[in-house]
Amino acid sequence: MTTFPASLPGGTWTLGDLTVTRFGYGAMQLAGPGVMGPPADRDSALAVLREVADLGITHIDTSDAYGPRVTNQLIREALHPYPEALHIVTKVGATRDEQGGWPPARRAGDVRRAVHDNLEALGLEVLDLVNLRLGDASGPRPGSLAEPYEALAELQRQGLIRHLGVSNATPEQVAEARTIAPIVCVQNMYNLAHRHDDELIDELAREGIAYVPFFPLGGFSPLQSSALSAVAARLEATPMSVALAWLLRRSPNILLIPGTSSVAHLRENAAGAGLPLSGEDLAELDKIGP
Ligand SMILES: NC(=O)c1ccc[n+]([C@@H]2O[C@H](COP(=O)([O-])OP(=O)(O)OC[C@H]3O[C@@H](n4cnc5c(N)ncnc54)[C@H](OP(=O)(O)O)[C@@H]3O)[C@@H](O)[C@H]2O)c1
Repeated sequence: MTTFPASLPGGTWTLGDLTVTRFGYGAMQLAGPGVMGPPADRDSALAVLREVADLGITHIDTSDAYGPRVTNQLIREALHPYPEALHIVTKVGATRDEQGGWPPARRAGDVRRAVHDNLEALGLEVLDLVNLRLGDASGPRPGSLAEPYEALAELQRQGLIRHLGVSNATPEQVAEARTIAPIVCVQNMYNLAHRHDDELIDELAREGIAYVPFFPLGGFSPLQSSALSAVAARLEATPMSVALAWLLRRSPNILLIPGTSSVAHLRENAAGAGLPLSGEDLAELDKIGP
């Protein structure tokens, strides 16, 4: 039986049949500037990934579009052969262009190719969880996901994928996906200041489906709010710790994948997410988003 270090806040969650620590890690920040090209310091990037495993984190979020291919290759170099308890979650549905844009790649052939590319880059025979990324850089966009999601469901039946999820998705697309094949998670943008998915999170919690917020710390524009700073100052903690601790308290189905390229920040976040928040703190923080 796998044991998880008591030090990771939030305990565990089960994605289908995969147990993961609720405190996970998002690998996107390991690529170069603009998520293009290699990291400035390859050894530091590998050290962050090894620290992820050493801390007992068992959920790494990645995509072949990061770099492209860069983060998957770093993950493989740092951690392959992977610890049995570690689960790597990847995304398909977007590619990269020369300008660093993220053009959609959602024809059936695109997602099939992307799954095979991820298998190869990560050195795996089966992908634990594949999210179909929808929408664009400005957020979810309406429209049917049937073609790419049916292609993923077929690859799942062939045994190349264990579980499926959707990302950057509208509630209607989440519902449509579930008519085709079960989902175990939704990965959308959500944080203290960006709370469009409040209703969806509660609905997914009732259904036992995980919600994985991307940009939990604000992404490329760090969270800034006077209420957040005031609570952090009162607790003698960083705003990042408060933001992560709030997410873990927000709902039991929320899994964290904060990104960092720094071992020190990774340790700080893993400790900080366990910050106790009082009713008064939560009430003050709750006023930020809506
Ligand atoms: N599905 C999608 O469409 C989608 C989109 C975006 C992201 N994602 C996933 O979500 C994950 C999380 O998003 P993200 O990494 O973009 O944003 P994030 O977790 O909200 O924030 C990362 C930023 O916060 C900084 N940071 C982290 N810890 C810090 C600390 N303790 N003190 C100060 N600064 C700190 C990082 O800088 P340092 O490197 O200096 O620590 C980095 O600039 C990604 O890694 C990716 O896996 C998915």
